[in-house]
Formats: sequence, structure tokens, C-alpha cells
Amino acid sequence: MYASEQAWREVDAYFVDTLVPEDEALVHARQSGGATTMPQAEVAANQGKLLALLCGMSGARRVLEFGTLAGYSTIWLARAVGRDGHVTTLELEPQNAAVAADNLRRAGVAERVDIRTGPALKSAEQLVEAGTEPYDFVFIDADKPSNPAYLKASLALTRPGSVIVIDNVVRNGAVTDPDSDDDRVRGVRTVLADIAADDRLEATALQTVGAKGWDGFTVVRRVR
Ligand code: DHB
Ligand code: MG
Repeated sequence: MYASEQAWREVDAYFVDTLVPEDEALVHARQSGGATTMPQAEVAANQGKLLALLCGMSGARRVLEFGTLAGYSTIWLARAVGRDGHVTTLELEPQNAAVAADNLRRAGVAERVDIRTGPALKSAEQLVEAGTEPYDFVFIDADKPSNPAYLKASLALTRPGSVIVIDNVVRNGAVTDPDSDDDRVRGVRTVLADIAADDRLEATALQTVGAKGWDGFTVVRRVR
């Protein structure tokens, strides 16, 4: 526990109270994370709002999400794309997908979201095989060892101009250890190296502190 962790939480609470009110559907989705296989892994409200703003700024109409859990970020993304938009969200666990489906109904966005249950890489490959129209925005927030595979799949499912955001790239600072034997850390380091080596991609990464501790995300723009 960092001495400042309480302060990080208080600042997040202040920002959320001031700028990012959650409606009943979002509150319920957050709380129902407890009924998933990974409680409290959803993004913070101010992070969900950032995803929504990035979607809006990039004019995204079609969103692909790796990792649904209870559908908390999915609600933010689905609201951001609007009535004519679409979100495809990939979730391994049927139990989580059922929780998310209920939350998306409550949020009034179920008809613009397609939840695909099963291994996310397999679902993504099926989307590629089906010749799915490119996605404008991708949020990668599932099992971290698969990040490199998810990026590769994302490149088969996007177009120049698409935006890709990857969550959890800091993990309490563990990301700086080149010899880490944690598969999640290796998944992050490999995907960042892959991004850096790919001349189709421009990217940055930011650390965050707050209600979710010390973590961060990468923002990638596909330029060609
Ligand atoms: C973990 C995964 C997440 O997507 C997250 O936001 C926080 C934690 C995890 O794997 O521990
Ligand atoms: Mg995450």
C-alpha cells in the first residue's frame, strides 16, 4: 500500500463526482462485477468516460472489445457509438457473458452490442473469416498473456485511422522488468515491442493512479 493510495482514491472520487456521474445502470454493472470470475477488474468511471471520449473524438461507429466481464466498459463504449453504432465484445466465460447481457439490457444498449462467448482469439478469427467490416476502435482488456495475439487479430479487423487502446500496461510497475516470469507482464512487454516495431502504428503509453491503484494504458493509432 502506497502512502498516497488513499489520496489517489479521493481524487478519483472527486473527479467522478464532479464530471462523471454514473447512472443506475453503470452503478449496477460495476457492482455486478462481483458476480463475474474477476471482481473489480472493470475500468474506473473516469477511465470509462475516457474510452467514450476517445470514441467520440475519433468518430468511431464500430467498436471491438476483448474482455467483457460484467460489461461495464462495454456500456460506456456502446453509449459512445450511439444508436446507429455497434459494439462486438468478446468474453471467454459464459457466466460473465450472462451478467453482461443483463447489464447491457438495463443500460438500454443491448440491441447495439453483440457478445461473443468463447476464447476471444477464436471469436476474433471468426470475425476475420466472415469478412467483418473494419472496426474503428478496439479496446483490448482481456487475459494479458494474449495481448500480442489480440493486437495481431485487431490489425486484421481495423483500417488506417482506427484506434486501439490496451488496458493494464503498468501493473504496479512490474512492466519494467525484462526478466519477469509473469506471463501477464511478458504479454504487455511483447505487445508494446510489437507496436513499436510496426510501421503502421503510432502509440504512447500513460501511467494512471486512482481507484484502480497504479496501472496504465496504451493508446495506438493505426496510420496505414
Ligand atoms: C486485471 C485485469 C484487468 O483487465 C484489470 O483492469 C485489472 C486487473 C488482472 O488480470 O489482474
Ligand atoms: Mg483492465
